[in-house]
Amino acid sequence: MKLLRIDSSARRNSVSRQLTGKFVEAWKKENPTGEIIERDLSTTNLPLITDEWVQSAYADPSSLTPAQKQVLSASDALIDEVVKADTIVIGAPMHNFTIAAPLKAWIDQVVRVGKTVLWGQNGPRGVLEGKKVVVLTSRGGSFRPGTPTAQYDYQEPYLRHILAFIGLTDVTFIHAENQKPGELAEPSRSAAIEQLQQAASAQNRRAATQ
Ligand SMILES: Cc1cc2nc3c(=O)[nH]c(=O)nc-3n(C[C@H](O)[C@H](O)[C@H](O)COP(=O)(O)O)c2cc1C
Repeated sequence: MKLLRIDSSARRNSVSRQLTGKFVEAWKKENPTGEIIERDLSTTNLPLITDEWVQSAYADPSSLTPAQKQVLSASDALIDEVVKADTIVIGAPMHNFTIAAPLKAWIDQVVRVGKTVLWGQNGPRGVLEGKKVVVLTSRGGSFRPGTPTAQYDYQEPYLRHILAFIGLTDVTFIHAENQKPGELAEPSRSAAIEQLQQAASAQNRRAATQ
C-alpha cells in the first residue's frame, strides 16, 4: 500500500501540515509496511502553465521534441506520484476563500488530457479511479453547511469537482475551522485530529475486506 502526502501551506506553524502529519502517523500504525511518498508543494518548483506547456500537452506524445518533453517533465513526475498511490492525503489551507496557490499549480500540472482525463464521445472521463483521498483543510473562519458563511466556501466544492474530473471520487473532507487566534481554535483542531484518525483506520478496514 502507498500513501501520497501532499502539503500546500508555506507556514512553518501550519495547521494543515500538522493534520497531514497526524494522518500519516495513524495510517502508518495501521499499515506498518506501507510506503509514504511526500510531496511538499511549498518547496517544490511548480511551473506555471505556459504556451509551450499547452502546445506540448496537446501534441502527439510520439512527436514530442526533447525540449517539449522537458517542459512536461514536472507534470509527468507529479502525475506518476498520484498514479502510484492507493491513498492520497492533501493538506489544504484556505487562502482567500479557496485553495492556496501551490495547490492550484499542482492541479494545473496533474489535470492533463490524454494522461489523467480522456475525452470520448460522452465527454471527459477521469482515469485515476479506485483511489481514496482525504482532504484536511484549515481555515481562519467557519463555513459549516447550513450557516450564512457556507456560501463563501470555494475550497471544498472546487476540490470535489476537480478531483472528480480526474477520476478521484472517493474523497473525504475534514475541516479544522476557526483557526484564527481564539478559544475556538484548539477544540476544532482536536476534533479534526480525532476524525482523521478514524478516517485512517476506516480506510484500512475497508482495504482489508476488499
Ligand atoms: C494569505 C492568507 C489568506 C487567508 N484567507 C482566508 C480566508 O479567505 N478565509 C479564512 O477563513 N481564513 C483565511 N486565512 C486563514 C487561514 O486559512 C488559516 O490561517 C489556516 O490555518 C491556514 O492553514 P495553514 O495553517 O495550514 O497554513 C488566510 C490566511 C492567509 C495567510
